[in-house]
Amino acid sequence: MAYRVYDFDYGTPTQILFGKDKIERLPEVLGAFGKKVLLVYGGGSIKKMGIYDRVQSLLKDFEIYECPGVEPNPRVTSADKGAALCKEHDIDVVLAVGGGSVLDCSKLICAARYYDGPAWDLVLDNAKATKALPLVTVLTLAATGSEYDAAAVISNLETQQKLPFMCPLTYPKVSICDPTYTFSVSKKQTAAGCADMMSHIFEQYCVTDSNLVADGLCEAILRTVLGNGKKAYDKGDDYEARASLMWASSLACNGICGTGNSFQAWVCHGIEHELSAFYDITHGEGLAILTPVFMRYSLNDRTVGRFATLACRVFDVPFEADLYAMAEKGIQALERFFASLNLPRTLREVGITSEEHFEAMADSAIAHWDFSQAIRPLDKNDVLEILRRSL
Ligand code: NZQ
Ligand code: ZN
Repeated sequence: MAYRVYDFDYGTPTQILFGKDKIERLPEVLGAFGKKVLLVYGGGSIKKMGIYDRVQSLLKDFEIYECPGVEPNPRVTSADKGAALCKEHDIDVVLAVGGGSVLDCSKLICAARYYDGPAWDLVLDNAKATKALPLVTVLTLAATGSEYDAAAVISNLETQQKLPFMCPLTYPKVSICDPTYTFSVSKKQTAAGCADMMSHIFEQYCVTDSNLVADGLCEAILRTVLGNGKKAYDKGDDYEARASLMWASSLACNGICGTGNSFQAWVCHGIEHELSAFYDITHGEGLAILTPVFMRYSLNDRTVGRFATLACRVFDVPFEADLYAMAEKGIQALERFFASLNLPRTLREVGITSEEHFEAMADSAIAHWDFSQAIRPLDKNDVLEILRRSL
């Protein structure tokens, strides 16, 4: 392990409008792209919260078409439906209002609008996306960072796959992040969101070589989640806690925190997407289960220093000569934090009680992700072992 800054290309075209009532800027923001808007949303939370009515009244001079009902772990069928609406009505701009699932689905809708075929083709081969409609988002759940990145994760129930769709054309043009919109997020989703944003950081931090700038960013975000997660969990309308989590989540997944670090394998995400694909579990809960297992599995003489550093700088574990003891104390502190948010510790707790699909999951994870350069390089058997230890 070494400190060094590797070369990188970095840039994000997304403008973030952060703060209470920033939604008032929506007409100006959308107006730059046209009048015909496809409004994409989920199962109805935005109606309960009053955001739907607010959007309708702000956009009274626009022509709005709707694509409701996007599922958590969004299905490709929803993207196909949205893309068909865009084609039929010659939509100018897509407005996604919701959490990561709504935003992710909208990204695929934007690209599939210009593709002559099923949206799933674009997921299987991201290079087939050559053009996309502009996307504007209104975020209602702090977790994925989808409002500030070019990633989407799409599920296909027919093939039991959940795969990334990475397309720089689908960076949101503007994302409106009003922390008060997350006041109504349930305890379960608040906790899952915390686990997700922390995992995004661990994926970038637990690497072979890092640099001090990246470390500082990562550690600040982890400390922010540790300091505010429980506050938001206990008191949903704690503005400062919600605001801190919202900004932390946006920064955690747009690449900035890992810039200049060595290869980032995203092991927990690669494995979790398989769990979600087969069992439709909540992404952040899957990560909360896998992360401590992954960390302990990754410990060896070459990597222990990295986990001891994490323990010391983020979890305030005092320095001691036994680095393994330090690393273990850090992992235990993380487990205590997850427990304080009532996150599950085992796959059994989320209804996965057997190894039935582990082989298929491990095959798929290895086929779609490169774990060969992970902090501890992993092959299929290692993935199987991580899954078994998570049961
Ligand atoms: O469907 P609605 O009615 O909107 O309800 C949602 C949903 O039931 C609800 N919710 C959202 N905002 C709310 C709210 N309920 C009350 N008040 C609010 N303000 O919360 C439930 C979960 O929503 P979802 O969007 O699924 O959650 P999240 O934001 O955690 O997104 C998870 C998805 O994003 C993917 C995950 O794999 C998963 O499919 N990811 C996307 C990433 C990206 N684009 O970069 C990276 C992540 O690692 C992740 O893989
Ligand atoms: Zn995630």
